[in-house]
Amino acid sequence: MRKLIRAFVSKFRPILPAVEHRLHNLSIFRELVIREFHKLYYEASSTGGTWLDTYWLGVPTLKCPLDLWVYQEILFETRPNLIVETGTALAGALFLASLCDILGSGRVVTIDISPKPERPRHERITYLTGSSTSTSVVGQVRSMIRPGERVMAILDSDHRREHVLQELREFAPLVSTGCYLAVEDTNINGHPVALCSGPGPWEALDEFSRATTISWPTEARRRAS
Ligand SMILES: C[S@@+](CC[C@H](N)C(=O)[O-])C[C@H]1O[C@@H](n2cnc3c(N)ncnc32)[C@H](O)[C@@H]1O
Repeated sequence: MRKLIRAFVSKFRPILPAVEHRLHNLSIFRELVIREFHKLYYEASSTGGTWLDTYWLGVPTLKCPLDLWVYQEILFETRPNLIVETGTALAGALFLASLCDILGSGRVVTIDISPKPERPRHERITYLTGSSTSTSVVGQVRSMIRPGERVMAILDSDHRREHVLQELREFAPLVSTGCYLAVEDTNINGHPVALCSGPGPWEALDEFSRATTISWPTEARRRAS
């Protein structure tokens, strides 16, 4: 019997890497790995790890490093003059401003409902305090856009569906053709993390895209998947 098994293994050993490669490339496995990555990443945060333990130049940022890398690619490709971020927390805007420094262009306006005096100062960053959907804040953002400027937006504040939907209505029209409107944390409410958090960014985006004619560029679709 042993001889038989040994003969079987040695006969098929050369093709095992190819079989393994094929299995990993099956979409069902890829889906599984992505789902498990999301869960591992978010669940580790309950013990103070992952997104509660990520820093940019010593300042905490609540973004996944993989997303930060994608922002780097987006800014390089699309060169927005103004980046609007809703939900400042601490270092997300500093990260974007540092990229603008490297690229030699771009400014950031970031909005948070809670003032935090310890936020890092940077000549490219304007901090606005207030709700991102208030008429006054939206008006201030609009007034910062100079004629012909390219604008991108990142929605990362209150993640409840109604709020994100309102942000989409206010900020999507400000985003320039060819620039990105990023909606953060679409993975909550069971997509696949935070099962019971209630309707959030995913549901807002779903409703907004059904109510609006959006032509998704192939590249945006690829990045979103
Ligand atoms: C997920 S954190 C933002 C993370 C940040 N963008 C980063 O990259 O590190 C959410 C932030 O949204 C803020 N926030 C909550 N409700 C808001 C509202 N209605 N308008 C603006 N900011 C709000 C919170 O105070 C909190 O700082």
